[in-house]
Amino acid sequence: MSSKRVLVTGGLGFIGSHTVVALQQEGFEVVIIDNLSNSSLDVLGGITQITGNTPEFENIDLRDKTAVKDFFEKYEDIEDVIHFAASKAVGESVLNPLLYYENNISTLVYILHELNKKPSAKFIFSSSCTVYGQADELPITENAPVKKAESPYGNTKQIGEEIINDTCKINVDFKAIALRYFNPIGAHPTAEIGELPIGTPQNLIPYITQTAIGKREELSVFGNDYPTNDGTAIRDYIHVMDLAEAHVTALSRLINGKEKNNYEVFNLGTGKGNSVLEVIRSFEKVSEQNLPYKIVDRREGDITAAYADTTKANEELGWKANRSLDDALQSAWKWQKVVEKREEEEN
Ligand code: UFG
Repeated sequence: MSSKRVLVTGGLGFIGSHTVVALQQEGFEVVIIDNLSNSSLDVLGGITQITGNTPEFENIDLRDKTAVKDFFEKYEDIEDVIHFAASKAVGESVLNPLLYYENNISTLVYILHELNKKPSAKFIFSSSCTVYGQADELPITENAPVKKAESPYGNTKQIGEEIINDTCKINVDFKAIALRYFNPIGAHPTAEIGELPIGTPQNLIPYITQTAIGKREELSVFGNDYPTNDGTAIRDYIHVMDLAEAHVTALSRLINGKEKNNYEVFNLGTGKGNSVLEVIRSFEKVSEQNLPYKIVDRREGDITAAYADTTKANEELGWKANRSLDDALQSAWKWQKVVEKREEEEN
């Protein structure tokens, strides 16, 4: 338990909001910064419904360096930060790279600049398995080489890790952990919070649930000629609640001084790979629905297979994903039905 305040940037977003819930349930007091660019204030209500506790909220755009400085002056006790706020659409980053460098890099630098002034700052960074590209060996360990990024988005995660590592080298009192997420999916089991994609979903699970609810005609499966068992691409789908809990564990590791180095990296995945067709079958089972789909060409930039070696997270962090693919898809489906009902009531 801790009564210290933790800053969660992007705390109204998909992974951020679930992490806020997990933090509150472990006794942390949370302050959220979010600029609502890809989230909604309703999420604050969802968090409150689950935990009975409304986090403090500041609508701040982290690209505003002065606003970042003012925030840390106002909340001078805050020295623990979980930093989610960032743009995350791979395709958009190709079309608008400068937006991604500004949103994901400038903001990171401004926050680190303020934290670096603190005597014992602790920082958790949202990184991604995208840094590995198509790894030569599976499962992927943290020692796998970081490959040249395929997109500006991926590049911001690589550069972000380097910026943090460089900061840790020069300031031994600054402690940070980069968490490399595999594919986060699902929603809180209460369906009070979940993923809220704007427009047409780019990711598999929201596209599946929106198809099943009748919002989209059919799912396009991108390629069935990959060198895998059924020809479709393989990913490591991790329940967002498992991921959220990992953030609390990572922060607690730093608070309790359990780190081996002041900069560490962990993979967060289940360790199990599933093909697109396996995900569809699993979804059909838990939702008791048929999912219309067709096979189309591969999507540019997609890799064949990625799944995590979770040994380091299991042994050193003392964390493990506990929820199954079925659990995650069930929660995503329950959430989609809630979203649909809300939209009907609004219209
Ligand atoms: N897929 C489809 N149809 C769709 C959407 C996806 O067949 O409509 C397939 C993809 O081809 C891929 C799998 O489903 O094989 C998963 O695709 P997602 O878009 O859900 O996830 P990605 O693995 O492509 O992307 C994720 C994160 C990115 C990150 C990337 C690389 O969403 O932020 O991993 O690490 F950059």
